[in-house]
Amino acid sequence: MFRETWKRRAKLVEENLLSELRRTTSLDTQLMQAMEYSLMAGGKRLRPMMLMAAADACGVEGERFITAADALEMIHTYSLIHDDLPAMDNDDYRRGKLTNHKVFGEAMAILAGDGLLTLAFEVVMRQRDVPAEILSDVVREISSAAGAAGMVGGQAIDLRSEGVRLTLPELKRMHLGKTGALFRAAIRSGAILAEADAQQLDDLTRYAEAFGLAFQITDDILDVAGDAAVLGKATGSDAKKGKATYVSLTSLEEARALAREAADDALRALKNFGDGADFLRGLVEYVTAREK
Ligand code: IPE
Ligand code: IPE
Ligand code: MG
Ligand code: MG
Ligand code: MG
Repeated sequence: MFRETWKRRAKLVEENLLSELRRTTSLDTQLMQAMEYSLMAGGKRLRPMMLMAAADACGVEGERFITAADALEMIHTYSLIHDDLPAMDNDDYRRGKLTNHKVFGEAMAILAGDGLLTLAFEVVMRQRDVPAEILSDVVREISSAAGAAGMVGGQAIDLRSEGVRLTLPELKRMHLGKTGALFRAAIRSGAILAEADAQQLDDLTRYAEAFGLAFQITDDILDVAGDAAVLGKATGSDAKKGKATYVSLTSLEEARALAREAADDALRALKNFGDGADFLRGLVEYVTAREK
């Protein structure tokens, strides 16, 4: 069931991303090519999956919100393009292909990221059949998660922590920002779109935070123990830059245990939900067992 839903939705995400992109006009064709290059390069499409799964958990078929879901993927892809830049992580491969700046140059990669970030907000507003007040709550959710209070803030801590030994709580805070914020926004947006009640929103928020932590600890582990060919990005990248990661602070074993602990917290947060939350449950197992 999980695999079938995943496959159907992954296809839907891909098709919709491309059609949203094609509906968009750009003054410059190379800019558009650069945006499409990274957006359509593959990727697990987890954030759109999470938004849809949260709506399912609240009793509304998540696929109705594919457009809002894909806006999150645009923000995520922009964050990756910028994350890979020489001034940031300086990586050459992403999603199994050369990074955006390696193909289009640094300046165009910066602009491709800018283009995707702004397009995301245009695209959320294209979401159909949702009352305007609800859509405005979603925009508030996504914009604060993407910015200085969320992902961008976490990325700033990440850069300033190179070569610095953080405490475990500091590291957790950084992860909750750089990675957790977009997962939290994905889940909360799905819940808001499905008109969740306060208790559901609360439980799902706890789920999302724990999920995000399990996800980023696993990302840190894969940077050490993963296979670059499977991952589609280089391994050893964190150690090379003296990044503060779970693996640099604990052992690989301990990091694995902490990821499991966070995954169990995520599952526990779903205890008030029935079968509708099974896709969310499946995502927890997927994310801790993942090899890419
Ligand atoms: C990678 O995210 C960057 C982090 C937030 C750690 P994903 O592992 O979701 O990347 P894609 O979208 O599948 O390429
Ligand atoms: C990136 O974290 C997080 C964001 C892009 C917001 P990482 O730097 O650990 O991601 P990878 O390992 O390059 O995918
Ligand atoms: Mg980084
Ligand atoms: Mg990186
Ligand atoms: Mg990483």
